[in-house]
Amino acid sequence: MIESKFRFIDLFAGIGGFHVAMSHLDGQCVFASEIDEYAIETYRSNFGMDANHDITQTPETAIPKHEVLCAGFPCQAFSKAGKQNGFEDTRGTLFFDILRILRHHQPKYFLLENVRNLISHNGGATWRVIHENLNQLGYLIPDKPIIFSPHQIGIPQLRERVFIPGVAKGKTKRKAIEIEVPKSKRNVTRSALILNGTPPKEYLISPYEEYVLQAWDEFLQGLNHRVVGFPIWAEEFTKEYDVSPLPAWKQVFVNKNRWLYQTNRRHIDQWLNRYDGLKKFVPTHTKFEWQAGTSIGSVWDGIIQFRPSGIRVKRPTEFPALVAMVHIPIIGWEKRRLTPREAANLQSFPHDFTIHSNNQQAYKQLGNSVNVEVIKYIAKQLFEY
Ligand SMILES: C[S@@+](CC[C@H](N)C(=O)[O-])C[C@H]1O[C@@H](n2cnc3c(N)ncnc32)[C@H](O)[C@@H]1O
Repeated sequence: MIESKFRFIDLFAGIGGFHVAMSHLDGQCVFASEIDEYAIETYRSNFGMDANHDITQTPETAIPKHEVLCAGFPCQAFSKAGKQNGFEDTRGTLFFDILRILRHHQPKYFLLENVRNLISHNGGATWRVIHENLNQLGYLIPDKPIIFSPHQIGIPQLRERVFIPGVAKGKTKRKAIEIEVPKSKRNVTRSALILNGTPPKEYLISPYEEYVLQAWDEFLQGLNHRVVGFPIWAEEFTKEYDVSPLPAWKQVFVNKNRWLYQTNRRHIDQWLNRYDGLKKFVPTHTKFEWQAGTSIGSVWDGIIQFRPSGIRVKRPTEFPALVAMVHIPIIGWEKRRLTPREAANLQSFPHDFTIHSNNQQAYKQLGNSVNVEVIKYIAKQLFEY
């Protein structure tokens, strides 16, 4: 068990998701490292700390002693790692910086975070390199990385991330590390959990967006099918060209869309008529994906995103991961976008957390950050070792 006060360092600190979580667990931050000037600003206004240190330029000897190392390192850290199978491969990558700091300071614990596909990156070689290197440094880590999403602890966000907790072998009696992750999600209530009431008008969807979404809602209401489980491509409905030159996957989708049209022809023809053959639609908005199963029956009851691949609707209890911030989720039943403060709620930042005054920066920073409650959930178990 860790003492009531412990010291931690916050590498690739962003706006300090780890910092908030560790502070809640009684930790004290002794060093933070970040290079993005806007994230550094947010960090300073919340913690009064200067995080402005490029980790690649920071000698390990310049970092104060600590018991816990936290790092949500950028995914591109692995661009070079794992090409062969050894330590040398990690040199020059940001993961190497974590390793050299761990080697020098030998903190009792670390907690690393990365994107989900770290596991499959480079055919699994990247994970092997990480595992081997941390193991060789004398740390106990799980054989498989932990995959965890906030929705598993009742927070309405689907955001699968990989977590790698570690404990120094010489400082624990345990022989293996196991972190319990809830298997089934808890009952997440409609995102009331994170919404803050009526926001300013600037968050309302535009008349064009309302027109397009209304059209898709009418499309769904008139179908003979309860759920369409494939991407709907309206531009294919009335076409009859030969699909054989297309790649196989595309043939499948085009054929499915033709089938959808044939089995709902009357309704779809009327619908196309009513909406001028979708002439007013931006081409990507003629594509539509329903990812809400049978949980809801209307576009306006879901969480909507305008994406380059089309319009996507999800369950109201499952906000998509806040990553690509150009696709800020729309709350269907309120006909508006999520505010930055609500994005902070989704990431479980406290209400008094100061978010960046520039909205684009705020969304981006929150999209890059970790979910505070997820970090706490894992760290509490880790600190039992
Ligand atoms: C995925 S984000 C981590 C966010 C953080 N965990 C949080 O809660 O906000 C990775 C961060 O690493 C930072 N970064 C990239 N290269 C760095 C370097 N050489 N030194 C320090 N930070 C760096 C990026 O600017 C980015 O903010």
